[in-house]
Amino acid sequence: MANRPFIVGNWKMNGTRAMLAEARAIDRGAARHAGVRVAVAPPFTLIQALAENAETMAIGGQDCHAAASGAYTGDVSAAMLADSGASFTILGHSERRAMHGETDEIVRAKAEAALAAGLEVIVCVGETEAQRDAGQAEAVVCGQLDCSLPVGEGVAGRVTVAYEPVWAIGTGRVPSVEDIGAIHRAIRARLVTIYGEDGAGVSILYGGSVNAANAAELLAADEVGGALVGGASLQADSFLAIVLAAG
Ligand code: G3H
Repeated sequence: MANRPFIVGNWKMNGTRAMLAEARAIDRGAARHAGVRVAVAPPFTLIQALAENAETMAIGGQDCHAAASGAYTGDVSAAMLADSGASFTILGHSERRAMHGETDEIVRAKAEAALAAGLEVIVCVGETEAQRDAGQAEAVVCGQLDCSLPVGEGVAGRVTVAYEPVWAIGTGRVPSVEDIGAIHRAIRARLVTIYGEDGAGVSILYGGSVNAANAAELLAADEVGGALVGGASLQADSFLAIVLAAG
């Protein structure tokens, strides 16, 4: 059976308790669109509050540490996320790869820790503009999949891949539907190489400047199973318009 479309809001470093009303509105909207799986990844500080109030949407983290506990000032473990009410975490977002030096190997170690803590993982991949211009987009993305994804028996069912071209994040620029379809097909083929037939069931999200106006077109591209939404997930109205477009 095909997966439900999966729409995930990544609030990044935005949101205080003043956003709880917005979160409640998103949750109510999610209940009206049962054909779509809706999730929000708020900052760590809001996970517990959102999780305690959410009836329909899933709540997740934006990162976790690979270690279970210890002297890692400022970091949060996967078990802490789960304890706060998170059911998944985003990992390997390009902002973490670029600003925090996260390598594919680190992303994989975090993913293994998250799975061990009972979380699902959304592993992000994507090329820079220079890599795309050099014709390397597919090779870069497949290399990231090979080295970032957790592997092992039964793992594929708890993994989602988010394809986010770095140059499309927060810029208002998006690839053509044909380009999105081409790279999503390449990701699908690589997932089958990595996971065998289970790779056919892994959801592949598109992320990068998705908004209420372009969501329907982007979500219709080949092998796009949903969206990872940044800026447009901060207002319930715009986020729910994307959810509606997915349903
Ligand atoms: O995680 C979300 C992505 O980075 C996309 O962000 O929708 O603001 O471009 P954006």
